[in-house]
Amino acid sequence: MRELRSSHWYGGDDRNAYIHRAWMRRGLPADAFSGRPHIAIANTASDFTPCNMHLGEVAASVSNGVYEAGGIPLHLPVVSLGETLVRPTAMLWRNMAAMAIEEMLRANPIDGVVLLGGCDKTIPSLLMAAASVDLPAVVVPGGPMITGTFRGSALGCGTDVWKLSEEVRAGTMTQADFLRSESAMIRSRGHCNTMGTASTMGLLAEALGTVVPGIAGTPAPDNRLLEASHATGRLAVELVHKQRTLSTFLTKASFHNAIVALAAIGGSSNAVVHLLAIAGRLGIDLTIDDIDRIGSGVPCLVDVQPAGRYLMDDLHRAGGLLAVLHEVRDLLDPTALTVTGRPLVSYLDEACIWDSEVIRPRSAPLVADAGIAVVRGNLAPGGAIVKPSAASPHLLVHRGRAVVFDSIEDFYDRFDDPDLDVDADSVLVLRGCGPRGYPGMPEVANMPLPTKLLDQGVRDVVRVCDGRMSGTAYGTVVLHVTPEAAAGGPLSLVEDGDWIELDVPGRRLVLDVPDDEISRRVPSERMTASFAAPARGWERLYVDHVLQADTGADLDFLLGSSGSDVSRESH
Ligand code: FES
Repeated sequence: MRELRSSHWYGGDDRNAYIHRAWMRRGLPADAFSGRPHIAIANTASDFTPCNMHLGEVAASVSNGVYEAGGIPLHLPVVSLGETLVRPTAMLWRNMAAMAIEEMLRANPIDGVVLLGGCDKTIPSLLMAAASVDLPAVVVPGGPMITGTFRGSALGCGTDVWKLSEEVRAGTMTQADFLRSESAMIRSRGHCNTMGTASTMGLLAEALGTVVPGIAGTPAPDNRLLEASHATGRLAVELVHKQRTLSTFLTKASFHNAIVALAAIGGSSNAVVHLLAIAGRLGIDLTIDDIDRIGSGVPCLVDVQPAGRYLMDDLHRAGGLLAVLHEVRDLLDPTALTVTGRPLVSYLDEACIWDSEVIRPRSAPLVADAGIAVVRGNLAPGGAIVKPSAASPHLLVHRGRAVVFDSIEDFYDRFDDPDLDVDADSVLVLRGCGPRGYPGMPEVANMPLPTKLLDQGVRDVVRVCDGRMSGTAYGTVVLHVTPEAAAGGPLSLVEDGDWIELDVPGRRLVLDVPDDEISRRVPSERMTASFAAPARGWERLYVDHVLQADTGADLDFLLGSSGSDVSRESH
């Protein structure tokens, strides 16, 4: 039998092995330390991450499965990121969480790991960490909450918040009704139930092959999630015996399938930075152009908010991810394997659609040509992304004059000024929100519209930003402009009144200003003043080392894998 990694701590009769075993016995039988895989359950449950609060129950089911299969389950609480609470933005801490989880997996006597995540950044950070340690690993996505209801109508978590707040601003809903809807939105445990980042990353973890197929998207309160967790615990023990680490099955083909899935589900634009970052940990050469090339032309089949009408428990009821992938089977890479050892496509034979309003057949897609489009030009030499399925079709080709904001604070100071020179054809430009400019690259790109435009009935204008957009948001928003303004990108040189051309079908984003005029310009002092480097701590480390959005916004020294070996051992 293969020697277990944990035996480097527990094997033998010397003093160190005695110490390691003695402190860990705590009621375990003696044979717990001789040949039984030690499985960590890396758990992002936290009272500060309400989307993941139920993961303790999930962990208990995983634990039962591990024990039943002959392993030893060990609970490992890890850094958790609650999207709604963590300031300034959870994305600032994604890489920190990934680094901390990676180091704790490596530092402890762990043979394999079950990764429990849910809220937006938790599954990405867990996968980034597990990829860099490269132990046998499998994900259990915590699942979405069930549908909220308000006055007889379904209320989606996330997307409807944006819509309701815009209705209040437009005067079509009272403030009192808005507040009444608050307690109706979150009806159960689980993460946001729209096709936001959490739902997207749970489904993409399955499309990548890191989840036992058929589990992702199971609502958090559904008993089938616990049954699946139990089975995943058993599988984790088998993974150790077979040494099926992530690098043995996660290949570019896996990312190909995840990109097809991203388009077919109408997933969050945030998946772009997360897929790139996970691939970066595995040394897989994945680019934003791959995401455009593979995903564009794939139909969006899922009628779930924000692109559509329904919510995540509807998607699960209608057949879930496997039913969606069944429809686009010919676009998938059949060579990609899953954590079970079987190809992903082998799970599609029996998948079928139970509600063709929620999951559209290939012949009647929600959006014929979905995916994430990458636009380039002199305004975004490194690329920027647009999610056409969340955009207004009439704005996908647009020429308008820039209204420029130097920071998110500048935006909120001025955007509702009645004297602001803005109209329905304007292009709102917000800069200083990239990975370095506003450490963490906040989800501010879907700027609210000025009230005077709302009063005119305008509900969308073209917006251009070096930041991100919430996966639950919608609008014609050009995101992740690279290089960002704080890194000296051309976005820093745009002035009010400049003409900007967006041509999504042509993949262009152009600042229509002569080159010699652009080269004469210098960034405004108001903008550069907002880029003061943090003095110390994680934020300082982050700003000094974060990469641009086009490669996943990981830290430069975290790319790749260090494996599971401990560099030096104390005696
Ligand atoms: Fe956690 Fe939306 S706030 S998934």
